[in-house]
Amino acid sequence: MTSTDWLETAPLHVRSPGRVNLLGEHVDYNQGVVLPAAIDRQVDLFALPLDKRHIEITALDLGETVKIAFTDLDQKLDHQQIPLPTWALYPAGVAWAAQQHDLRLHGFKAAFRSNIPIAAGLSSSAAVEVAFALLSDSLGGWALPRLDLARLCQQAENEYVGVHSGLMDQFACAFGVPGSILRFDTRSLECRALPLPPGVELVIADTGLRRSLANSAYNDRREDCAQAVAELKRAIPGLQSLRDLSLEDFYRLQNTLPERSALRARHVVEEMARVEAATDCLLNGDAVGLGEWMVAGHASLRDLYQVSLPEIDALVEIARGLPGCYGARLTGAGFGGCTVNLVQTRHVDRFIAALQSDYHVKTGREPQVFACKASKGASILKKN
Ligand code: GLA
Repeated sequence: MTSTDWLETAPLHVRSPGRVNLLGEHVDYNQGVVLPAAIDRQVDLFALPLDKRHIEITALDLGETVKIAFTDLDQKLDHQQIPLPTWALYPAGVAWAAQQHDLRLHGFKAAFRSNIPIAAGLSSSAAVEVAFALLSDSLGGWALPRLDLARLCQQAENEYVGVHSGLMDQFACAFGVPGSILRFDTRSLECRALPLPPGVELVIADTGLRRSLANSAYNDRREDCAQAVAELKRAIPGLQSLRDLSLEDFYRLQNTLPERSALRARHVVEEMARVEAATDCLLNGDAVGLGEWMVAGHASLRDLYQVSLPEIDALVEIARGLPGCYGARLTGAGFGGCTVNLVQTRHVDRFIAALQSDYHVKTGREPQVFACKASKGASILKKN
């Protein structure tokens, strides 16, 4: 057992949120625009600096500790030369990515806990990455701009963990604004905070389902999109990504694509159009319109991108029939996980109770349903 007495007096405390995505799913790695928000579920990371060439990390929720020498980061081994457990790849990946950029690593002893459901589409991993990036930035005196920190974390996820994700999760975690959805353009890297319509809340429902091999299914989707771009380049030589493809060109050329790539590409180009429409709804405080685009987005993830599950579809269908619900959809990569629901504030409590019980009656399963607030991005709460 690891003693955690030192946590009380730890000189550093970093807090880093999860995120929910309202719309713009599987578009970030196609250079599209996304609409996420950081949420009030977070990682709390406590740390003290060590004058050593290693890092020691405890996952409080698992009761596990690893010690990793800087020289072993490359090999993904702990100090006893044992392969790192999966959870440790995220913090180790951040340290490894820092090494790739010749950033000075400082030793530390750290412990973290999280109340973000794991592997549920709420970016529990990005929250861990950004927390450790902020910690190392502070200890190493890097003073990196936030965007660079977010990219460092993405590099850790892409190259160390091996998930070829876009920048949305780390960005939302680093840049969240209370009460607002971030309209983040993953191509220009511009971001604008758009307040949620008045009188609505975000409610998250976690099916508790986690599909194994989700990471490879995710990477496969990304490959399908790359294949679509490669094929479409024959007709449109300047095409860099699906971001460059108009709806008209897609409909005109879709029959030239292999069937699966055509389905994936159609989701992406139509989802990008939905994001524009949803942005107008946010600008006009139009919760009804926003909810409709969310529902359309879900159908597309289910039928074209094929990342939903029957249980998630059931949660969405039940939610749509409940009073005060403007819209519901799968959030995050899919293959299990959570739905996000846009619900009238005065109906939230009844909505949560009804969704739980109706889903239980229909599937025999117990979802975790909770309201969440769009929240601020990661920060250092204490530094002595
Ligand atoms: C995961 C990835 C993101 C994004 C979403 C799907 O959360 O980490 O980059 O691609 O899936 O929108």
